[in-house]
Amino acid sequence: MPAWLKNSVFYQVYPQSFCDSNGDGIGDLKGLISKLDYINELGCNAIWLNPVYDSPFMDAGYDVRNYYKIAERYGTNDDAKMLFEEAHKRNMKILMDLVPGHTSDTHEWFTKSKQPLKNELSNRYIWTNSVWEAPPQYRLMCGITDRDGNYLVNYFSSQPALNYGFYEVTHPDWQLPANHPDCLRTVEAIKDIMRFWLDMGCDGFRVDMADSLVKNDEEKIATAAIWAGIREMMDKDYPECALVSEWCNPKRAINKGGFHADFYLDHRGNGYSTAFRYYNYETGKQESYFSKEGNGDIMTLVNEFTENYKATKDNGYISFFTCNHDNPRMSAWYDQDELKINFCTIFTLPGVPFLYYGDEIGMRYMSELTSKEGGFSRTGSRTPMQWTNGINKGFSNASAEDLYLPVDTRKNAPTVENQEKNENSLYNTVKKIIAIRKANEDLCGNGDFEVLYAEKNKYPFIFKRGGFIVAVNPKAEDVSVPFDYEIKEKVFELGNAETSNGTISLKDQSYCLFKY
Ligand code: NOJ
Repeated sequence: MPAWLKNSVFYQVYPQSFCDSNGDGIGDLKGLISKLDYINELGCNAIWLNPVYDSPFMDAGYDVRNYYKIAERYGTNDDAKMLFEEAHKRNMKILMDLVPGHTSDTHEWFTKSKQPLKNELSNRYIWTNSVWEAPPQYRLMCGITDRDGNYLVNYFSSQPALNYGFYEVTHPDWQLPANHPDCLRTVEAIKDIMRFWLDMGCDGFRVDMADSLVKNDEEKIATAAIWAGIREMMDKDYPECALVSEWCNPKRAINKGGFHADFYLDHRGNGYSTAFRYYNYETGKQESYFSKEGNGDIMTLVNEFTENYKATKDNGYISFFTCNHDNPRMSAWYDQDELKINFCTIFTLPGVPFLYYGDEIGMRYMSELTSKEGGFSRTGSRTPMQWTNGINKGFSNASAEDLYLPVDTRKNAPTVENQEKNENSLYNTVKKIIAIRKANEDLCGNGDFEVLYAEKNKYPFIFKRGGFIVAVNPKAEDVSVPFDYEIKEKVFELGNAETSNGTISLKDQSYCLFKY
């Protein structure tokens, strides 16, 4: 286990929208390098960088054409190397995004695989034996290549699934078992890619759709086995490098697959969703626990998280995030005060937290935008970072119509420039809470966690982190509940909390981190 992880707070950079250094309207690696000091000063000591590989960008880079080459629009492989070096000079880490489940249909592996004549890459992807064979339970692309067969898709139609075989082989004429030599070769090909970037200096990977490798693998047994093998390689050759999974099943990802951390994704109805992202679009009703409406229930999070936390403690971390490039920013339904309470809570929970670029200033979810590069409803969370009050909010010198996506031009659109100056801004709140987390071991990734007060449909929510207690009342109404501890020293507070005579009282919309 890389020791640095327990002390890390990640910043997610969506490269096309972060900082444009050459005025072509799109963010690039040199731009990111110029902002490392900013990220570092905010308190984030690690970065997850969305895919920067050569790609036709049908899915914003999750459709890789060449895993070994930085896309021209982002710079060169030398720029990537410089990024790793500059990050390391500042004691920061960089995770790249590994996309092992599929490639672009323009990848040279696929070009070879779709040839009608059998060749060494015929089985790199999953093909039926004839175009007339298309069992409806599989997502197959039919009749669009000269090869007599249909191929399986992993995500969008332009992303054919790489072949790691099937755990349960139901059609033996075309489904290979996971231990078939050609499937093992796919694993080796992915390991080669990992080695290439790790040798160059990257510090690990966030792994896209990590659970998607082996098909018909209900319990993910064969998929986890592949990752466990990859973890062996990491332990042996790159023990200081980290693997973070997009899986949302910590028991499988961490305990079986050997991931160092697993994302707690926003799946409708799960703990993370009901706590932070349970806005009901149909009724327009806010049902998240962490909203001032106070309609939520904390118990789904408490039960689900506690169980997974206990099951994986000492093996790996569960990662909460403020948002990512696939979700609406929380500012879509929360005001700045609510965001402060939410983010402070996220940054005082155990695990390895991730801050999505621009969330530190409360950037808007620009739902009105049309889709860009396969973004669809996700596009509104992918707009240019708002640095200054200058041209294009400091993101780029290009003319506005040449920008990757439009910047938020509203008069009151938040910027780093404005928020840095304001002591009580969201930016400064996030900065303070991250600094407190990093300065206190009890609040770090592997510090203890114990729920002290959580009741169905009730407020507040109180938990202990070693020598600290966090009491949070997101609701726009004062609350008091029986409580056995006393506030000895307030370390950070929004609103107000007091203890007396076996009771804790929290003003409406309060967050308090204290020593007891
Ligand atoms: C998950 C990524 O986060 C998302 O952006 C992408 O579209 C899919 N995986 C497919 O790679």
